Amino acid sequence: MKVMVVGANGQLGTDVVRAFADNGDDVLSLTHADIEITDGEAVATKLRDLQPSVVVNTAAMHNVENCELQPGRAFEVNAFGVRNLALTARDIGTVLMHISTDYVFDGCKLSPYEEQDPPRPLSVYGNSKLAGEYFVRSTLDKHFVLRTSAIYGKSPCRAKGGLNFIQLMLKLANQRGEVRVVDNEFVTPTPTSDLARQIVALSRCEKYGLYHATAEGACSWFEFAREIFALTGTKVSLKVAGPNEFPTKVPRPKYSVLENGGLKLLGLNTFRPWQEGLRDYLGIPQSHEAAIIR
Ligand SMILES: NC(=O)c1ccc[n+]([C@@H]2O[C@H](COP(=O)([O-])OP(=O)(O)OC[C@H]3O[C@@H](n4cnc5c(N)ncnc54)[C@H](OP(=O)(O)O)[C@@H]3O)[C@@H](O)[C@H]2O)c1
Repeated sequence: MKVMVVGANGQLGTDVVRAFADNGDDVLSLTHADIEITDGEAVATKLRDLQPSVVVNTAAMHNVENCELQPGRAFEVNAFGVRNLALTARDIGTVLMHISTDYVFDGCKLSPYEEQDPPRPLSVYGNSKLAGEYFVRSTLDKHFVLRTSAIYGKSPCRAKGGLNFIQLMLKLANQRGEVRVVDNEFVTPTPTSDLARQIVALSRCEKYGLYHATAEGACSWFEFAREIFALTGTKVSLKVAGPNEFPTKVPRPKYSVLENGGLKLLGLNTFRPWQEGLRDYLGIPQSHEAAIIR
């Protein structure tokens, strides 16, 4: 299979390139320097020249604060840029796999969101990503839209820069000895390597559509931090942060846990519990219980 990965040097893109290459596919890795998705003509030329059978789009403007400050640019990249990919993919008969986000929901449901739940984004970022989803779904039949949550990987997230949550927690613990984390925001930490493996598995079928694609289970950021410290044996005083201790400028869903209902229905869900993904990331062998269950 000839696979084009857009955003190939990003946090997720790097693992997607690796997963398809490990699978023996022919991978075309495109960074921002190779393709500007907001340039419709450039997108069309690139796709027509390279004729991939699948395009995986991981490119996005996803720094939530920057999206709020530059709503026009956020829609240019996350909605109209995605439309450019969708239009040419349709014209040349290519499958488009597009990555979206849990931030299309408002977080009021308080039980895992399923694909058929109505979205209601709270931010410019969420709205622009939702618009991108709609462009894909209304432009071409041969599409997969995968919504994911709280991803982390070995490669840094280019939009956010610096450290991922795990690295940040370990750094703060070592520097300060006390760490304070919110316990009122729930997500599913999802390793990019696991998501990449799911993307490869899904690319082999023709069950096109919208899918939730996260690790199994859920936790608050506080519980995520607690697991990181427990697994690494880090000695730290971990405390729950007060409700106004880390005010955010942009509203975020308090609960954005996704249920991989569509993948499970097809028998294609390859995700494992978030704690197992974290162990792998940290290089810690899986527990005996997990090995027996699996
Ligand atoms: N991070 C999360 O927790 C999270 C959660 C849910 C969903 N997602 C979604 O997951 C996807 C991947 O995220 P990530 O963390 O891997 O992001 P990332 O590390 O920031 O990578 C994004 C990639 O897209 C490229 N890019 C940005 N704008 C572009 C444009 N206009 N044209 C072409 N390429 C462009 C970036 O290149 P430059 O850096 O050189 O501009 C970078 O290579 C995104 O769609 C995001 O919305 C992320």
